[in-house]
Amino acid sequence: MKTYRAAVIGCSRMGAFIDNEVPDYEAIKLPYSHAAGFFAEERVNLIACADLRPEVMAHFGHRYNVPASNQYTDYREMLEKEQPDIVSVATQPEHRAEIVIYAAEHGAKAIYAEKAMAASMAEAAAMVEAVEKNKVAFNLGTNRRWHTGFDKMKEVIDSGELGRLRTLIIYSNGTLFNTASHNFDLILRLNSDQPASWISGGYLPAGDRIMDGDVLREDPAGGGTIQFENGVTAHALLTPRNSEWEAICEGGSITCWNNGWQWHIRKQQEVPGWRTCRVPETFPAFERASSTAHLIKDLVHALDTGQPTRGGVRCAYASTELIFGVIESHLHNGARIALPMTGSKVRLQRHPTARHPKTE
Ligand SMILES: NC(=O)c1ccc[n+]([C@@H]2O[C@H](COP(=O)([O-])OP(=O)(O)OC[C@H]3O[C@@H](n4cnc5c(N)ncnc54)[C@H](O)[C@@H]3O)[C@@H](O)[C@H]2O)c1
Repeated sequence: MKTYRAAVIGCSRMGAFIDNEVPDYEAIKLPYSHAAGFFAEERVNLIACADLRPEVMAHFGHRYNVPASNQYTDYREMLEKEQPDIVSVATQPEHRAEIVIYAAEHGAKAIYAEKAMAASMAEAAAMVEAVEKNKVAFNLGTNRRWHTGFDKMKEVIDSGELGRLRTLIIYSNGTLFNTASHNFDLILRLNSDQPASWISGGYLPAGDRIMDGDVLREDPAGGGTIQFENGVTAHALLTPRNSEWEAICEGGSITCWNNGWQWHIRKQQEVPGWRTCRVPETFPAFERASSTAHLIKDLVHALDTGQPTRGGVRCAYASTELIFGVIESHLHNGARIALPMTGSKVRLQRHPTARHPKTE
């Protein structure tokens, strides 16, 4: 079987070392970082890396057997000299579009880009164009799309045993680029990637303080209501109940507790003495596995067969549109924003200082 050559751009936490932060976390199976995922995948050889920080790449090289000669401070030079098949882009969103577009236009056959997809809608649209024009297989690092527990949750919803899906709840939507990027992709997936028709009630509690014209100086927490064309409504709440999600169907509900550790089903039943009751049922067993490993296998499968990935660049664009839809709704005093959205000029523009990753 053919093996593919992979390179990572952005060698910090998600690029390389986040596994060291969650060694015993029930909700996340390792490998978790891009490099750890490539290193573990037998169909992939991790051959090069690029980062602005040579000292971080030295740790990367030591951990993943990438020699100093294949460590680059200029990702363009790395792409030109190494010609990797699969390119990971694990920088912050402000740098994402430039790097993804360059990689797509300079030989990458597959791209694993971290979330959030982009810092503005214009950049996200330019990424879609470059990826599609160059026929690049693409997955965004919204890991729950490849998480076997959420696969099972979707399977139960799709089976119809709880009746028609009506409502999706995100209990703590969090900051839009860092956290809601995951949440919005998850509700799209649970609702079978049906298109959203509008967003309303967008609110950023700190929004006015951190907006400077069209520039967002911080990644804002935000929530709102999303209406899908198939009649499903999603509520992105801001509550202290972190990393929990619920799918409410006409005859029952499924709740995920503690970020993919536990799931609970309640099914509507006739109970003597009551009209109807929602009673607990057992969530079906599933095998826990690494979502990063599955995401990478999905890219390998796309390269082998030419078939689309489970994510894809249009899917990434759809979740990005929900992020900017919440922002636009807030800017218009909670008004209804029709999707597909046009004319958003907002850009996330922080000046992030990269943290030193936990290399041991
Ligand atoms: N999928 C997940 O579960 C998950 C978890 C954590 C972080 N993330 C995402 O991963 C991304 C990276 O997060 P992080 O915490 O690792 O960030 P970080 O800021 O620690 O690291 C970013 C790295 O990119 C490098 N970089 C910046 N510009 C570059 C360029 N032009 N060329 C090469 N390297 C460049 C920096 O030097 C730094 O090492 C973010 O978008 C974040 O939201 C995803």
